Amino acid sequence: MACPSHVASGIAKTARFTLTRRHIGGCHPTNGRAGSSVVTNETHWCLSTAPRFYGESKTSAIGSTVDQRGPRCNEHEPSGHHHMPHAAPPWRRRAAPASQTPGGRMGMTTGRLLVTAAVAGFVGCMLAGNRRPGPPVTLRSGPGTSRRASSWHALVETLTLASLVWRWHRHTVLEAELQDRGRSLNQAVTALGLGMWSCDADTSLFHANRLLREELGLPAGARCTSTDYLRAIHEEDRPQVQAAFDAAWRDGSPVDIEHRIASTDGNTRWAVTRANAELGIDGRVVRLRGIRMSISPRKNAELDAEKSRAQLTHLVRVGMLGQLSGALAHELNQPLTAILANAQAALRFLKRNPVDHAEVVAILEDIVSDDKRAGEVIQRLRALFVRGEARFDRVDVNKLVDSITQLVHSDLIARDVTVIKALSRDLPEIAGDHVQLEQLLLNLVMNATDAMADTLPALRQVTIRTEVHDGQALLSIIDRGKGIAPDQLDAIFQPFVTTKDLGIGLGLAISRNIATAHHGRLWAEPNEFGGATLKLSLPLASDAPLHSGLQPFLSESA
Ligand SMILES: Nc1ncnc2c1ncn2[C@@H]1O[C@H](COP(=O)(O)OP(=O)(O)OP(=O)(O)O)[C@@H](O)[C@H]1O
Ligand SMILES: [Mg+2]
Repeated sequence: MACPSHVASGIAKTARFTLTRRHIGGCHPTNGRAGSSVVTNETHWCLSTAPRFYGESKTSAIGSTVDQRGPRCNEHEPSGHHHMPHAAPPWRRRAAPASQTPGGRMGMTTGRLLVTAAVAGFVGCMLAGNRRPGPPVTLRSGPGTSRRASSWHALVETLTLASLVWRWHRHTVLEAELQDRGRSLNQAVTALGLGMWSCDADTSLFHANRLLREELGLPAGARCTSTDYLRAIHEEDRPQVQAAFDAAWRDGSPVDIEHRIASTDGNTRWAVTRANAELGIDGRVVRLRGIRMSISPRKNAELDAEKSRAQLTHLVRVGMLGQLSGALAHELNQPLTAILANAQAALRFLKRNPVDHAEVVAILEDIVSDDKRAGEVIQRLRALFVRGEARFDRVDVNKLVDSITQLVHSDLIARDVTVIKALSRDLPEIAGDHVQLEQLLLNLVMNATDAMADTLPALRQVTIRTEVHDGQALLSIIDRGKGIAPDQLDAIFQPFVTTKDLGIGLGLAISRNIATAHHGRLWAEPNEFGGATLKLSLPLASDAPLHSGLQPFLSESA
């Protein structure tokens, strides 16, 4: 059993409420220590209420009371009364300087608690014995049921009071702990630059932390609603954010949207707004809780990467056109030669008498069509050479195939390659950028012809097939070349992987990037002719968003 001084000083860390009969002449009932005593001429009953509090403070491990040690029993005064050897109790002396910290506050709390416990014990005794405070209370000895009953009564009341004090103490400790965690959370939130908010369905009031209020330009204490939040969003992005909020209020779907901030200095700032809905017992959305975080550095880095990707894509495209320059010159020369020949023929026909008007008309029509052909080649080349912004439109994949096969027509003839087009007649349109998709297709066709360099001329055949497969437009380029080793089927899409002397190894990396930007897929498979089949799958225009899903070039997806 612990003595009250041990108890009060924290030595007896695990003692429960104890009833000791150890020290004759124990604690003074009014000395404010952690126990109360009743002294009889035979026995000293010591009711200790403090150890459990102290033990709990120890285990809670957040207060400054943890290591406090008070006087030991041998420090007791010879008079038999327990006294702390110093003017102030140890827990007071230790806790006071740290009172600004949560732990310090807890030390003070425990101190107050001990005093309260002692007072509670004393009041219990008073109630039991119906006596007033004074020097050590002495009950007359002698057997008697009423004296024992009042002692037990005192014990029960003291325990009840102690239990109340204990609850109050736990409440105080938990409150301090909660405040401490709240402070830590606030610090973390501020360090992360997080704006935190919540909005109630009933009041429409918008509660924001200090950081967010400052960003929104709201004066402290001013009432604000979600309208204030939306007003601070860039006007072009506001409808999307509004729609996300509407959906969250309607069906509780989470909000996760990147948007620009309305700014007056002309600088574009980016943020992400995320929120979750809280449901009431009736399943209705009662509150949205969310955060807003600045993502300008990441967004700017992404935009820079996208710019670099676009530049590189353009350079590779120009490089490919450079490779085709001989064939392109031929492609242009052909209609020009035809135009010249037809014009000379028309002159000859006009000099005849009588003039064969029908023949002259036919010749002139040929001239017009050859001129158009040359004009188309130049237009196609210009589109591929020019570095422009990606523009998503409706695209007919079959027309794309025609355009590219015409562009490489002369090159294919020079290499003895035959092109077979197996185009689906009712292929729906897709959403995409014409130039990017042409670049992709051009690279696939050029790769296929390169792969057939060692194939017998009679067998050099490329089949271009379009079809609808699994609800998507599927384009397949099937060649009869040397094929691709199984372990290289994916590796060839990595940047700078090439087996060609003059290749850079960027064609397929960029092609896959373009496919991803179109929410599609590009992959390679071996085929039954020993060659390779490159497949491009793209969502139909009805299912695809009319904007690019571009990834930074050379990223995982590239
Ligand atoms: N149809 C194909 N058949 C066999 N191998 C192929 C085929 N297509 C691509 N490859 C292999 O994949 C490699 C990478 O192709 P990619 O188009 O990325 O680069 P490249 O053609 O070598 O150079 P460039 O950057 O000029 O296009 C090629 O070097 C080739 O080895
Ligand atoms: Mg290539």
